[in-house]
Amino acid sequence: EKIILAYSGGLDTTAIIPWLKENFGYKVVCVCVDVGQEEELSDLPERAKLSGAEKLYIEHIQDEFCEEYVLPCIQANACYENKYLLGTSMARPAIAKRLVEIAKKEGASAICHGATGKGNDQIRFELGIKALAPELHILAPWRMTELWTFQSREDEMAYCKEKGIDLAFGSHENSYSRDRNLWHISHEGLELEDPETEPNYEHLLMLSVTPQKAPDQETPLSITWEKGVPVALNGKKMSLREMIEELNHMGGKNGIGIVDIVENRVVGMKSRGVYETPGGTILLEAHKQLEELILDRQTMEMKKIVEEKFSQVVYEGKWFAPLREALQAFVKSTQEKISGETKMKLYKGNIIKAGTSSPYSLYNASLASFTTGDLYDHKDAGGFITLFGLPELVRALQEKKA
Ligand code: ARG
Ligand code: SIN
Repeated sequence: EKIILAYSGGLDTTAIIPWLKENFGYKVVCVCVDVGQEEELSDLPERAKLSGAEKLYIEHIQDEFCEEYVLPCIQANACYENKYLLGTSMARPAIAKRLVEIAKKEGASAICHGATGKGNDQIRFELGIKALAPELHILAPWRMTELWTFQSREDEMAYCKEKGIDLAFGSHENSYSRDRNLWHISHEGLELEDPETEPNYEHLLMLSVTPQKAPDQETPLSITWEKGVPVALNGKKMSLREMIEELNHMGGKNGIGIVDIVENRVVGMKSRGVYETPGGTILLEAHKQLEELILDRQTMEMKKIVEEKFSQVVYEGKWFAPLREALQAFVKSTQEKISGETKMKLYKGNIIKAGTSSPYSLYNASLASFTTGDLYDHKDAGGFITLFGLPELVRALQEKKA
C-alpha cells in the first residue's frame, strides 16, 4: 500500500520515510508543495531517493496559491486577533488539496504529515484532507508516541544513520521554528517562548530589517486595483505573485509588517511568535484605504463582521467548508467597485497614505465641504436629530420623573 508524505527534505520528514516503511510497510510517495518557501529544491529528488522514497513530486502551486487563497484573504482583509495576516493558515489548505490530488492519482490509501500534536497545522492539514477525501487515512507520527519515540534531533539523526541514510542536516541548535511562503514567514521558539523577552531581531528577521535600519528617505508607491484585485504597481502591470514579491522587497527594506504577538491557538494554548509580512501588510493597508472611499457605511459594517468570521474560520483550518465559501461570496460581491489607485509612502516601519482615487468614490466634495450646496440643507439636520435623539430624550425625562 502507498502513502503520500508531505515532504520538505528536512530532518523530520526524512526520518518519517524509513519509519513509515518499518512500522507499516508502506511504499512512500513524497510530495513537496512549493508555495514559495524559497528552500533549495534541486537536491530534493536525490535526498528523497536516498531516504527510501518510491517517488518524489515537486509541485509548484504558487500561482494557484495566489489566486485561490491569497486573493480572497486580501479582499477579506483577513487578520487573526488584530495582528496575524494568516500566512501559514492560508497555505495549509492549498497544500492539503494538492496532497489529496496526488493521493488519488497514485491510488494511495493514506496521507502523512510532520506537524506536531501541539499546533494548528495538524488541524488545517487534516480538516482539508477530510473535506476533500474522507476515505483517506491520516497519519501524524508526532502524535503516535508509542512508535515515534525520538526525543531530540540527535535521536532522529541516529535513526536515519542506522537506516543507511547518510545526509547532511543543517544544525538547528540555534534555530527558530519557521514557516515561510510567498505571503509571510513565521518564527516561533527560542527566546520567543518567553513573552517577557524582546525578540532578537538581528538573529530572527529574514525578509525585513528593523525600522531603525531602514533608509532615511520615504519610498513612494502606487497600486492600481480592479474589482478588488491589485493589478499594477507604480503603473506597471503584473501578476499578484509578482506584486507580492516586489512589495515584500520594498516593504522589507523599510521595516514594514513585523508583528510580535501572543496568539490563541485552536488547541487551547497561547503561543508567542513573530511574523514578517511586508508585502501583505502593504496590500491590506492599500485595500482598506480604497474600500474606505467606495463602500457605503452599512456594507462596511457588515463586511467588518464577515471579515472577522472569515479570518477565524481560516485560522481554524475550515477552508473547505460551506461557511468559508459563503463568507467569501459576500466579500466578493462587495469588491465589484473596488477599483482605483492607492498611493502611499513607506518610511521606517510606517505606511503613510498619500492619496486615493476611484471612479466609484462615494466621497462628494461639495457635500463634505462647509459651503452649502443643493444636496444638503443644514435645516434638515434639525428634524433628523429630533427623531434620532428621541430615545435619549425619553429616557432622560423618565429618569427625572423617577
Ligand atoms: N502560529 C501560526 C499559525 O498557527 C504559525 C504556525 C507556523 N507553523 C510552523 N509549522 N512553524 O498559523
Ligand atoms: C507545529 O506544531 O507543527 C507548528 C506550529 C503550529 O502548527 O501551530
